[in-house]
Formats: sequence, C-alpha cells, structure tokens
Amino acid sequence: MIPKTGALALIPLLLASAREARAAGRDWPEYLGGPERNHYSTLDQINTSNVGKLKVAWEFHSGDFGQVQCNPIIIGGALYGATATSQIFALDAATGRQLWRFSDPRNLNAYDNDRGVTYWSDGRGGRILCTIGSWLYALDARTGAMIPGFGDGGRASLNAGLGAQAQEKWVVSTTPGTLFGDLLFMPTRVGEDQDAAPGYIQAFNVRTGTLGWVFRTMPYPTDPGYETWSRDAYKNTDVGSANCWAGMAIDRRRGILYVPTGSAAPDFWGGHRLGQDLFADCLLALDAATGKLLWYRQTIHHDMWDRDLPAPPVLLAVRHGGRMVDAVAQTTKTGFVFLFDRVTGEPLFPIEERPFPGSSLDGEQAWPTQPVPSKPKPYARQTLTDADISPYAENRDALLAQLRAARTGLFQPFGKDDTVLFPGFDGGGEWGGPAVDPDGILYVNANEMAWIASLSDAPKEADLAQMSPGRRLYTLYCVTCHGPGRAGLPAGGIPSLVGIGARLARADAFNLVTTGRRMMPGFTTLSKADKEALVGYLFGDEQPAAGPGAPRDSGEVPRIPYRFNGYNRFVDSRGYPAISPPWGSLTAIDLNTGEHVWRIPLGEFKELTARGIPPTGTENYGGPVATAGGLLFIAATKDGMFRAFDKRTGGLLWQVALPAGGFATPSTYEVGGRQFVVVACGGAKLDTPKGDSYVAFALP
Ligand code: HEC
Repeated sequence: MIPKTGALALIPLLLASAREARAAGRDWPEYLGGPERNHYSTLDQINTSNVGKLKVAWEFHSGDFGQVQCNPIIIGGALYGATATSQIFALDAATGRQLWRFSDPRNLNAYDNDRGVTYWSDGRGGRILCTIGSWLYALDARTGAMIPGFGDGGRASLNAGLGAQAQEKWVVSTTPGTLFGDLLFMPTRVGEDQDAAPGYIQAFNVRTGTLGWVFRTMPYPTDPGYETWSRDAYKNTDVGSANCWAGMAIDRRRGILYVPTGSAAPDFWGGHRLGQDLFADCLLALDAATGKLLWYRQTIHHDMWDRDLPAPPVLLAVRHGGRMVDAVAQTTKTGFVFLFDRVTGEPLFPIEERPFPGSSLDGEQAWPTQPVPSKPKPYARQTLTDADISPYAENRDALLAQLRAARTGLFQPFGKDDTVLFPGFDGGGEWGGPAVDPDGILYVNANEMAWIASLSDAPKEADLAQMSPGRRLYTLYCVTCHGPGRAGLPAGGIPSLVGIGARLARADAFNLVTTGRRMMPGFTTLSKADKEALVGYLFGDEQPAAGPGAPRDSGEVPRIPYRFNGYNRFVDSRGYPAISPPWGSLTAIDLNTGEHVWRIPLGEFKELTARGIPPTGTENYGGPVATAGGLLFIAATKDGMFRAFDKRTGGLLWQVALPAGGFATPSTYEVGGRQFVVVACGGAKLDTPKGDSYVAFALP
C-alpha cells in the first residue's frame, strides 16, 4: 500500500468527518435542513434556558444590496449561499470569512430570488448545484470553479426538457433542486400569462448535466390527466405553467419524490384550459428513479386565483388511529394544511368537496367544488365581514363601503368588479414553509392581508393600432404590474418607471426586459427592435403612432378576452391593513390530532405598540426553524426583528433587531463545538430598507 501524504491525505479524512457531522446533526446539509424539508435540528446547545444570551458571532457583508430569500446550507464547516444579485458564495461557517464567490459574466443582469443551493458529493469531490437566470450550474465546492464536464462547460439549460415550443420561453429557478443518487430534480419559475412555458418536472444528471426523466404536468393526449384540460392545452400555445417553483421533498428510503405544483397560466382566466387542470395545484408523488406518477392530490381544481402550492411539503411521522403513519403535510396559500399517508396518498383527515360560486366572465367555467380538509382548522382567517374592518383605521367608513361593494368569500371567482381575495396573493402560507418536530407539531407563519382584484376587457386591436410601438408593447406586457401611468406600486414591491432614464442605463433596462428580475418575469420572445421601442417609450423618446399599414412589431395581441388590473393590497389611509389584526401570525398545530396548540401574532408595528395597541403581527416572508433545544427561531417580519419562541407555548424568549429585514428561513449548525443560527438580511420586501448581510448568532 502506498502511504498517503500531505494535503491529499487530508481529503478522505475531511470527507469522513463531513459524513460524521451529518450523522450527528451538526450540518444543515440541504435546503430547509434535509430531504424532509422539516426545518428541524437536533442541536440543543442553544436552548430555552440560555437563548437570552445569544450574541452576534459574525456578520458577512456581500456588498450587493437587496432581497435575499436564501436558506444557506452548511456542510463540514463551510456555508454555501447566494447574494441579492445571485452571486454564489462559500464562507467559513465559524467566522463568516469568504472562501470563494461565483458569478457568470455572461449572466450578470439575470438575478432572481435564490432560496439556496444543493450540495452533492460522490465521496471524492463535492459539487454545488445552483441556478443563475435560465441555467443550472455545477461548481467545485472547494473553489467555486465551474465543472467543465457538466452540461455546456459547467452549465445546463433549464429549458432542456420543456419541448420545442418552449425553448425560447422564459424559465428560471428560485428554489434549490432535490437529489436522489445522481439525479437532481429542478424547480422552475415560468411566466404566468398566455406565453408561459410549461412547468414540466425535470430530472438532470448531476455528473453530466444531461436531462434524465421529464414529468409532464400538462399532459399529452396519451398521458393520464389529458382529459382534464381543453383539448389543445398541451400544445402550450395559449396555456402554460403548472410548474413547481416552491421546491420538493424526498423520501430517499422509499424512492418517492413529493412535488407541489402551482396554477396553470394565464392565472386569472382559464377559458383555454376548461376542466380540472391536472396536474396543476397538485401534490404529486413520483417514482424518483423514473418520474412515474405514483399518486396525486389536487388542492384546487381549475385555479383562477394563482393559488400555487407555495412551499415544499414536509415529511413527518404522526400517530393516527392508534398507529404511527409516515405522512406528508402540505401548507397552502388559503391557510389549509393537507395531511396524507406518504405511501398511499390517502388523506389522514377526511377531505370534503364543497360547492363554491361560478364565474361571471365570458368563456370561463369555475369548477363546481373545491377540496376542504375537515382538519386541522385553517391557520389563517378565510372570510371577512363588516366586523373585520380594522378598529385602528382612520377611514373605517370608506373601508366598510369598499368591502360591502366587493365580492368576498373563499374561492370567489374574480370578475369585472372588485373581489376581495383573502388570504391574499401571498397567503396564508408562503414560500417560507412550516417547521415540524419529531413529535408531529407543525409550526407555520402566515400573512393575514386581504387583496383586491378585478379584470377588465383586454385591449382591442383597433386601439392598439393607434398607439406608438413602444406604448403598444407597454400596454400589452407591462401595464398589469407597472400600471397605466407607469407609477408601479412601490409599497407592493413594483417600482415606478416614471423618470426611469435618470436611474437606469438604457442597456440595463433593455437587458432587464429579457432576463426579468425577482418578481418581474422576462420577455424572452420579444425582438430586439421591440425591446428598443419599449425602452425608448420608457425613456421618453419621440415615437409616432404606428397607424394603419405600419410594420407590425412582434408583440402578440392578447388571445384572451380579459386583462388583470393589478395587485392591490386592501389597506387603510395610512397603509396599514384594512382588516383587524392579526396581520401576521404563527400557529402550532398538532398533526397527530389535527388540533391547534397555540397561535400568536407575529411581529409588531412599534409606533402602534407605543400607542398601547397590542402587537398586531405584520406581513412576513421566510419560515421558522425548530430545534431539540425547545426553540422556534423566526425572522420574516416587516419590523426587521429576529425572534426565538418557546416552541411548546409560543412564549417569546429572545429578540434582536437585524441590520435589515430577515425575509428568509434561518439555518442552524454546529462547528468546533459551537452552535450557530444564521439568517440572511437583505431587507427590501414590504418597502423596507435594503441590506447586504448574513448574520450568525451563538452563545458567548
Ligand atoms: C408581474 C409584474 C411585472 C410585469 C408584468 C413587468 N414588471 Fe417590470 N418590474 C416588476 C418588479 C417586481 C420589478 C422590481 C424587480 C426587482 O426586485 O429588482 C420590476 C422592475 C422593472 C424595471 C427596473 C426599475 C428600476 O427602478 O430599477 C424596469 C425598467 C421594468 N421593470 C420594466 C418593465 C417592462 C418594460 C415591462 C414589460 C415588458 C415590465 N417591467 C413588466 C414587475 C413587473
């Protein structure tokens, strides 16, 4: 035997210790803590008796500011995460010192909400799998260098398995992939309108970047579920999406992959996809090796509200009917928790198909019933009455009149008049997802914000023809979010484009239209000339109206009769929610019994608390972490605080102000005998200041 020497000899030792650390629960080896996505750690050095002594251990400044939704992973003393502009990095997890940073110069403008990365190792070298724009990258975990043998020089296209029709369509990924052996299953974010790519589930070979199996969430004529759509929906000309953007969970022992899907596009009018629309809004159980469908449960039939399943399902064990059952729990935007036997897909608490109202829109047909679980009771309010108008609003009468004039109620279809959507577009539950204990208690944070929505007739071809090319394109593609006057909705995260020329270079605006950014989709199919016309319009160039006979741009006249009027929160004259508190909540639910254990408002507005108003809760983004130390850690709130609760009672044990809002799920891990809790602080959501750091806490 040849004796091993020097650095090389260290590698097997390091790998062995990495395996050992994982076994002992010291790492946070995968997104949300592990394949079960249960946000749970067995560490207990920080516990209910000493959490009050937590101090900042280190703070890492990335230097680029903005929203960061990343849940970093920690493997053998290294922390891997992403910055606000999708730069991927490795840190020394004990000190916060940067080890390497990666960005692709070809792709600098493309950044999305990166919720994390995936680590894979074959026992010799580790890889970090991550996405930037529409590419899946494989990086060397030690150096951050692209792996030449993976895909095209280190990256593979996320469009690969979506069919010929979708090769040019916009596809990115906001949530890390899920591993099974050499297969990596990738979530995707696609458009939400008539030009959306199909949200097929794709497996990639993690060694080569080549495409493995593909599961079609919009079935072909020969696939199961085809009959639940309009005949031609599968061709992906007017209908798309039904994607999984929220991430997946996996039972590796059984080889079952759990995939939550979102709604079909266009979001708010389904006349080209009449029927139940399988496998949109489903929890799918797929054979991880082959992609074959094992079972499915649809949580909303024929979605007309963009009620995507917003978080990975959680794998857990519960005591049910006198025996232990391996189960899977799915949280939703509506505030329901669905609980199924993980193997058979049978609901553990009966699900009732209840009738709901029909649609008033031409060509639309609501599905007559929707599934409602008998237990647990919803973790967010679902209906509003006059009594729910905020007691703190200064314009209560106006709000009351607004509520009375609108349609309300669960699964109330949108029409040309206002409808109150409650819980709102961001839930109920959101992408933060719930934590779950080994004893079957689920902890879920929720928004309680009502939104107001309506549709109007789509612009007519004759009217569009009178407009200048840039204005026409703006009216077709941008007006829904940025508004007819281009004022956007800054409080809702949609910037004003008025005077954009003073803030942004033309070339950057041009690129942004193609790549999209965070909540803005990319418009990859517009021609160069059209993007120039569009940007010219935004920058105030003189543009004659096209008039009849002028050459036509590539902007497609809507093939659907309605246009969505935009995303509006139902707020009072001072910008607070128009409804009574709680405006954000944290609920513990015992999934053995289906009963709530406790429920508290999450977060506060300090100026209201100072007036003697009990904490109202705030909107919140990012999930909790539960630990064997009896704690529940969560940031997420608009007030920018990081909190630790007693997970048995919901009692607040510790809180600290973060440098910027922590709109992300924390991670906890141990290095060198010390337990850390780390959270990304990018701020920027809910109109809060931007940050650029990750902050780690530990006992002194
Ligand atoms: C689904 C909603 C949505 C649509 C549709 C949309 N945008 Fe946006 N847009 C956004 C959001 C959200 C941002 C902020 C992105 C971020 O977080 O950086 C944004 C940012 C921008 C910015 C940068 C503004 C700044 O101050 O830096 C420009 C320019 C822009 N959009 C132009 C367009 C154009 C042109 C179109 C139509 C082709 C369009 N947008 C369509 C939501 C949208």
